[in-house]
Amino acid sequence: MTVAPDAPILFFDSGVGGLSILGPARAMLPTAPIVYAADSAGFPYGTKSEAEIAARVPALLGRLVERYRPRLAVIACNTASTIALAAVRAALDIPVVGTVPAIKPAALLSRSRVFGVLGTDATVRQPYVDRLAAEHGADCTVLRHGSAALVELAEAKLRGEPLDPAVARDALAGLVRQQGGDRMDMVVLACTHFPLVEAELAAAAPHPVGFVHGGDGIARRIAFLTQGQPWPDAAPPGVAVFTRLDDSIDALRPALATFGIQRIEAL
Ligand code: DGL
Repeated sequence: MTVAPDAPILFFDSGVGGLSILGPARAMLPTAPIVYAADSAGFPYGTKSEAEIAARVPALLGRLVERYRPRLAVIACNTASTIALAAVRAALDIPVVGTVPAIKPAALLSRSRVFGVLGTDATVRQPYVDRLAAEHGADCTVLRHGSAALVELAEAKLRGEPLDPAVARDALAGLVRQQGGDRMDMVVLACTHFPLVEAELAAAAPHPVGFVHGGDGIARRIAFLTQGQPWPDAAPPGVAVFTRLDDSIDALRPALATFGIQRIEAL
């Protein structure tokens, strides 16, 4: 299949979390045309049921692909990927890259053999996470905790609002207070919103821990899948598309601009 230079890469999340995936991808492919889609009408995903996510995400991706004709789609959301990646792949005729918890690198890096998976409530209960833990961390204690408040903290940070340090502290406490938590030395940021508040998490940690997430690995995967394809000579202005546009979007404009996003549209 021939790909036009201006065919974009589509990034999809419930909110701003996918920017933590877009960032490393732009660093690797600086002139790639970008469409960043946020399902603001469906936000947050982490407190929804599997059935709701499975019904919503493939249909939305279908509409986005029809409108923007991307060369590749990235589900820049762990919740949507761990529940609906297979259904999205089946529905689309372009490559689809998912974002799943970075359990493999955490298991490789953990010296204490205790690591945490911090995600949304929906992600941490997925069988997909059980499989990754069994496959890569069979000799490890894998602690899990879901935090909806941390998702809100990342959204608030990108809107430039003041942040409550208790939110990051409570999210980490959800892991540390579990059996073996005092020996935890790595935390998988298993929600794409969480790397956006990594500094707040590091500052709130009761003892030093390392953080891992999938951003760099996904950027390499995108580069691999688009190898040999043409790109524009200079990066065109990035586009953000929201499923619901309201006043809060204006507060996001400065943060979106730092990711090369200049245009905002409604789906
Ligand atoms: N950013 C999403 C994830 O990676 C979900 C956040 C939410 O909408 O709850 O899981």
